[in-house]
Amino acid sequence: MTQISETPEVPDMGRRQFMNLLTFGSATGVALGVLYPFVKYFIPASSGGGASGVTAKDALGNDVIASEFLANHNPGDRTLAQGLKGDPTYLVVENDSTLADYGINAVCTHLGCVVPWNGSEDKFICPCHGSQYNAQGKVVRGPAPLSLALAHTNVEDDKVSFTPWTETDFRTGENPWWA
Ligand code: FES
Repeated sequence: MTQISETPEVPDMGRRQFMNLLTFGSATGVALGVLYPFVKYFIPASSGGGASGVTAKDALGNDVIASEFLANHNPGDRTLAQGLKGDPTYLVVENDSTLADYGINAVCTHLGCVVPWNGSEDKFICPCHGSQYNAQGKVVRGPAPLSLALAHTNVEDDKVSFTPWTETDFRTGENPWWA
């Protein structure tokens, strides 16, 4: 008798790794910071949002829908999403409960760890070597030499997308170092 076996579904490891990173980033920032370049390697170029923009994806890999997102997040929240080039990028809820028009790239400018948000301190604090960034991602303590990169956050048809930030960095008044 021949047994028919189903072809197992091949898991998309890149996506799984990324989702793990989103889910457990705060708790295991050091380990994931080390993993980050590896994870990034497997994330395919994102689609949607035009030539230079991407649709923001949540921890489950779904498009971020602005109305749903805002219904489920509080003023002051910083929430990781998949951003430009697959970079983990924070969506920011302003104090008036609107979505900020900028997103904050979570990759530490020191050695590339993913920096978790610390709501009680109102800062991003890197678990690797202690760099700190204020609520807008401006560096306030080294060894990180630069502020976290920015991206524009846009809402079109209720879908959130990121586009590159090439203008002056509003936090420093300087040209963006990442552009
Ligand atoms: S990688 Fe963030 S402080 Fe070193």
